[in-house]
Amino acid sequence: MRTLVHGKTILLIVGGGIAAFKALELVRELRRAGARVLPVLTENGTRFVTPLSLSALAGEKVRTSLWDLEDEAAMGHIQLSRAADLIVVCPATASLIQRAAAGAADDLATTLLLATDTPVLMVPAMNVRMWLHAATQRNVATLRGDGVTVMTPDDGEMACGEFGPGRLPDVAAIMAAIAAQFGPKPLLGRHALVTAGPTHEPIDPVRFIGNHSSGKQGFAIAGALASLGARVTLVAGPVHLPSPAGVTRVDVMTARDMQAACEAALPADIAVMVAAVADWRADAAARKLKKDGQPLPPLQLTENPDILAGIGQHTRRPALVVGFAAETHDLIANAAAKRVKKGADWIVANNVSDGVFGADSNHVHLVTATGAEDWGAQAKQAVATTLANRIAVHFSGSA
Ligand code: CTP
Repeated sequence: MRTLVHGKTILLIVGGGIAAFKALELVRELRRAGARVLPVLTENGTRFVTPLSLSALAGEKVRTSLWDLEDEAAMGHIQLSRAADLIVVCPATASLIQRAAAGAADDLATTLLLATDTPVLMVPAMNVRMWLHAATQRNVATLRGDGVTVMTPDDGEMACGEFGPGRLPDVAAIMAAIAAQFGPKPLLGRHALVTAGPTHEPIDPVRFIGNHSSGKQGFAIAGALASLGARVTLVAGPVHLPSPAGVTRVDVMTARDMQAACEAALPADIAVMVAAVADWRADAAARKLKKDGQPLPPLQLTENPDILAGIGQHTRRPALVVGFAAETHDLIANAAAKRVKKGADWIVANNVSDGVFGADSNHVHLVTATGAEDWGAQAKQAVATTLANRIAVHFSGSA
């Protein structure tokens, strides 16, 4: 990991939040890994860490103002923003995220972000309500759509005593995300199609058949493939998740919409079908069903197309087709049978008897033509990274 950061110049923008003190530890780790750190402190940031401690650790002058004439003579903000290999915003406060998403240039930090074409990594930290607020989530989605990598904050107890997502990720996780920015892009030039989330099958204009899929695993896989350089089309059922960086997202509602979007996305080199597609659809009533004293209307169900099987047997079949299997019993045997039946190369099998839906971790097995591997219980993000790396190895011809 250190070798990837070694010799790189990181422009570090420290925002004004309680987590700003952890930026000092990040500076120390970056320098230990051989990086040069150019620190920028926002005006609010100076209330949480002093320019002196930041410059002492970075071994560089700290810039705080757009109007420092001495700096403009030595290195103007335009050059400063381009001198770096990567810009890291840590902590990225709700306000900094909002102003960056809006394209503001009202202080040194936002001006640097606007004036650059250098990759940007944002590490958010804020109160849980602020992070979960629709406005912040909208701003994060905008930034991700603009190609900024925005890390997901950690869950846990906050400085203010509340509990939930919003904590600054561990410095080790930030270092890994920074290293990933400089990592190899083995899937460059490959197109990956990923499905995620549930589908909703309407019963009438207000009711639907659905399931508990959160979409987290599929979104994480789409993001992991994109970070290895793949062009990713993410066909997403109805979920409330921001799009991962660098991913083209197509939102759909029903299984048939999802199938049509997958067909439209071909040709692809890789298909990873993570969606929990509703197996059946109802004959949807055009008008809302009423309790008007009539006998209960029977629900006529029709089987939905199997999207994975359709892709697995397609004339334009992607070179690598990966399915998921949600099982409550006989995990490996059922997954192996599904692999053959659906024409998939690999099946990621998970045991859903112990509450996987909506959780952040997943215990999976990878079932291939040659057998099954137990990947143990891992965070969904880690399952995604492991799978993406495995796909990259497959395409490199060494597996
Ligand atoms: N799948 C799909 N289209 C469907 C049903 C499932 O593409 N109509 C895909 C899922 O995305 C997943 C895989 O098939 O990759 C397995 O889904 P799963 O629900 O485990 O299997 P089912 O086919 O529904 O089989 P069963 O319910 O009998 O276990």
